[in-house]
Amino acid sequence: MKTEEYITRGDQVIMPTYKRFPIVFDHGEGCFLTDVEGKQYLDCVGGIAVNCLGYNHSGLNHVINEQSKKMLHVSNLYWNVPMITAAEKLVKLSGLDKAFFCNSGAEANEAAIKLARIYAKLFKSEDATEIIAMKDSFHGRTYAALTATGQPKYQKNLNPLVPDMTHVPFNDFEALEKAAHEKNCAAILLEPVQGEGGVYPADKAYLKKVRDLCDKLNIVLIFDEVQCGIGRSGTFFAYQQYGIKPDVVAFAKGIAGGIPMGGILACDRVAKVFTPGTHASTFGANPLATAAANYVLDTVGTPEFLKNVSSKSQYFIHKLENIKSKNAHIKDIRGLGLMIGVEIDEDPAEVIQKCIQAGLLVCSAGHSTIRFVPPLIISNEEIDKATEIFADSL
Ligand SMILES: Cc1ncc(COP(=O)(O)O)c(C=O)c1O
Repeated sequence: MKTEEYITRGDQVIMPTYKRFPIVFDHGEGCFLTDVEGKQYLDCVGGIAVNCLGYNHSGLNHVINEQSKKMLHVSNLYWNVPMITAAEKLVKLSGLDKAFFCNSGAEANEAAIKLARIYAKLFKSEDATEIIAMKDSFHGRTYAALTATGQPKYQKNLNPLVPDMTHVPFNDFEALEKAAHEKNCAAILLEPVQGEGGVYPADKAYLKKVRDLCDKLNIVLIFDEVQCGIGRSGTFFAYQQYGIKPDVVAFAKGIAGGIPMGGILACDRVAKVFTPGTHASTFGANPLATAAANYVLDTVGTPEFLKNVSSKSQYFIHKLENIKSKNAHIKDIRGLGLMIGVEIDEDPAEVIQKCIQAGLLVCSAGHSTIRFVPPLIISNEEIDKATEIFADSL
């Protein structure tokens, strides 16, 4: 069956919440995807920072196959071994104390917001309910995550939103401090590297001041590392490059290499307010997902793997800087690790379209930025190929 025929069928039965490119994918191998007509694409989207080990990874496949023979699912009324092991590994990698597992990034942020509000009620004051989030942030599509998202375009026609959430400009400490003093604040929520907003890393001095402010005012500091976490930044969590630790971190996307999974990690002081009945998820801590996560954690969480992400990042950025020196359309190159944004002086849609025609998948972020979030296993040769196609398309 041809691409158009599949798309005609899809249009009849799938709600059009996405403006999809007219490509129907069939399978992948390493950093490459192949569509139903046999055309190959070098994938620098990676499921939007999900497929950290690429496609058809033998080790990950083996673990998923073995777990599928043992037990796909079991209720959270009981324990399972992969869940306990995954939590142990995450605690060790994060320096935090306790995990809660769910299925997506939005759900992870919901859990973090609920945890912070309960904590504030019990250990601050009855009316300490405010969540301060950042302008241009993205936290997901469920109601609390959507309200925390600092981009009104996602909130259109969805009023009433969740009460007591404020937005301040990212990387602007004065604005944040002012809001934190004006409101009775439960939590500050931010992405250490804003992803959907345009790939903007937080300033080092800013995050340190935010940490101090939260300590001073008994505010729960939540980092949303759904996109920049799980090795993407070159450290396991991006905050580890900033010399500070949040009270809660939300993760998802890459954690199980493509099996849906999310979660939060929190310090004991805050985590202890989640008690039986305060929060739950049927599929959270699912043994198939947590078994896959254990494989990802054993692979991505090693110092050698993370060092490799950093060196691939340097190589990628060096290649892009070379293109920038010869092309006035590039305004800026930003990012951390293998989460790289190239800001151009026009609408990126046409460049993305040309890349796709030439066999390279990239996506946009913010208004004018082209985003590269490839599998973390990308090779130098693949980076050469990606940057060549990108330069030609520009
Ligand atoms: C930083 C961040 N938080 C939350 C989300 C939402 O994750 P999900 O789509 O898994 O709900 C995303 C998705 O892009 C994200 O980038």
